[in-house]
Amino acid sequence: MNNLDQLVISATADFAAATEPAKLEDAKARYLGKEGSLTALLKGLGKLPAEERKSTGAAINIAKERIESALTTRRDALKSAQLEAQLATEALDVTLPGRGLPRGSIHPVTISLDRIEQLFRSIGFDVADGPEIETDWHNFTALNTPENHPARSMHDTFYLQGADGKVQDDVLLRTHTSPVQIRSMLAHTQRFQHLETMPELRVICPGRVYRVDSDATHSPMFHQVEGLWIGESVSFADLKGVVADFLRRFFESDDLKVRFRPSFFPFTEPSAEIDVAFMGGELEGRWLEIAGCGMVHPNVLRFGGFDPEKYTGFAFGMGPDRLTMLRYGINDLRLFFEGDLRFLTQFH
Ligand code: DAH
Repeated sequence: MNNLDQLVISATADFAAATEPAKLEDAKARYLGKEGSLTALLKGLGKLPAEERKSTGAAINIAKERIESALTTRRDALKSAQLEAQLATEALDVTLPGRGLPRGSIHPVTISLDRIEQLFRSIGFDVADGPEIETDWHNFTALNTPENHPARSMHDTFYLQGADGKVQDDVLLRTHTSPVQIRSMLAHTQRFQHLETMPELRVICPGRVYRVDSDATHSPMFHQVEGLWIGESVSFADLKGVVADFLRRFFESDDLKVRFRPSFFPFTEPSAEIDVAFMGGELEGRWLEIAGCGMVHPNVLRFGGFDPEKYTGFAFGMGPDRLTMLRYGINDLRLFFEGDLRFLTQFH
């Protein structure tokens, strides 16, 4: 056996010993690479006498072809072995029954918001929404809370930064849904200003609001539902009737107690806090605050385009998160926002 035959045998053996593609490529380099032994033979051809060059060259080329073909065979073998291994691990049993997609459930606060909308729609309210990034004017000034008014400090406000990194004190994350009162009033009065007497404005505004606050009963993002009813003879008695009736329907309970406790809000006069007490159950007899309310302040009516000599109205702002906690007996507000499916899938 000549040297070339030995080279072919040793290359074939090396290729067979390579059990993975990278090792096979290493082995290839030892024969066919720049520094490979077969390449060295080809390089040496030039030093041979002219008459030997042709026949030796032809023999080397034949050896090279045999090595290349051994390489290709081994490459293919490794590739199909790899494919087979992959098929074995990814075996698919098409006879197994399908898994199906489990049905999602609605977030408990969304369930409450839907109920609230439904109940208010049933007594003639529209539903409006407004931007969560609000102007200082809509969030405070037009709600009779001018700059430096102490009531602004009751709201721990998130102000926004401009592109220059500076805090812009005229744009903020709304601290309540009350600015939608202003937006709804302005839209209404602009639309009907040509009429001697404008139709009543009856609207609720559900949505997310933001304050710098976080513990078991406060979250930096929470929900509110604003209510607003403006007309020619809307009174505090209407406010009491609408809210008390809503609460009894929301909690599906006739012996719910509702009380209006005097309070202060810059945008209402007089103002009150609304408390409920349940008869029976764990919370029996305890007064729980669920909303603020009052008669819309004349300045606010004016900012909204209504003549306060002619129109009156009431407004309220309630916390659907709190209402949901009471309805389902949930004791930690954070459960609503943690995304734990064990909690969230319990509500239908
Ligand atoms: N905006 C008030 C707050 O977030 C809640 C509120 C109180 C809204 C009285 C009203 C209202 O419309 O009349 O604390």
